[in-house]
Amino acid sequence: TELHDLIRRLPKAELHLHLEGSLEPEMMFALAQRNNIDIPYVSVEAIRAAYDFSNLQDFLDLYYVGMNVLQTEADFYDLTMAYLERSHADTVRHVEVFFDPQGHTERGIAFATVINGITRALEHGEAKFGITSRLILCFLRHLSEEAAFDTLAEATPFLSKIDGVGLDSSELGHPPSNFQRVFGAAAKLGLKRVAHAGEEGPPEYVHEALDLLHIDRLDHGNRSLEDAALVDRLVAEEMTLTVCPLSNLRLCVVNDLKDHPLKRMLDLGLRATVNADDPAYFGGYVNDNFIRTADAVGLTETDVITLAKNSFLGSFLPQAEIDRHL
Ligand code: ADE
Ligand code: ZN
Repeated sequence: TELHDLIRRLPKAELHLHLEGSLEPEMMFALAQRNNIDIPYVSVEAIRAAYDFSNLQDFLDLYYVGMNVLQTEADFYDLTMAYLERSHADTVRHVEVFFDPQGHTERGIAFATVINGITRALEHGEAKFGITSRLILCFLRHLSEEAAFDTLAEATPFLSKIDGVGLDSSELGHPPSNFQRVFGAAAKLGLKRVAHAGEEGPPEYVHEALDLLHIDRLDHGNRSLEDAALVDRLVAEEMTLTVCPLSNLRLCVVNDLKDHPLKRMLDLGLRATVNADDPAYFGGYVNDNFIRTADAVGLTETDVITLAKNSFLGSFLPQAEIDRHL
């Protein structure tokens, strides 16, 4: 359809993408063989078949196993480059990607191996495709704030390559308030701050992310809609929400894509964006997220254009660069 064509050719930015979540089963299999790593799957088909989740934790359990195949700088380079190639095909012009260093350093991979592979690919991706980028280091919230401080210390020699910090992993029972001090330290280092909140967690977690972590952007934020005063505040503050519809469907945050709140968010005046989260696990990159959600909830041409504009407005690009993309 015409709307699908518009989606496919509109320039867009992607603001919520876990690089480790872009590890396609084919690459997982290839890297397992290349690195002589055991994985609990006999085939690519068996990997895909295992991706049937009931909630966030179900997914995370497989996500942390999958990333074990990432061992060398070349692996992180290949992972990142494959994502940039897919993004280029989706007319993505700018990406702000997450990585989970603790998922790697915990199993003995050096921080430098991870970040050097990723940033070399981001540089080559810009030269090859013209895709600009920012890199966001996420703290795993199921681990302690002390572990997050250790990770921030490990990152310090690489601060020129890191633009912000984020907070991800198991949300319920791990409120943003647990990470107030380490986010304060990150702010002092000049880093931007984002946090997953209101994906499975209550609106209170979104309040904490705003008031205690002083976030520049809200990842997911779906459950903010349960709190009218919070919605008003997010609108007034022009807070960007990085919404991930196919992720929400596959993790049972919504039971049907028709029930997805994306259209409602736009109608409320929230600065919502569309993102893939973990495309290798959730069955679609950014254009798939746009197209399937547009069909399910009835997005208009205006909605789609607003969503693409919001992705640049919500980015950490300098204003002149944002203006160039609008
Ligand atoms: N890590 C990777 N994807 C995530 C998500 N959707 N929520 C929380 N942590 C994650
Ligand atoms: Zn996420």
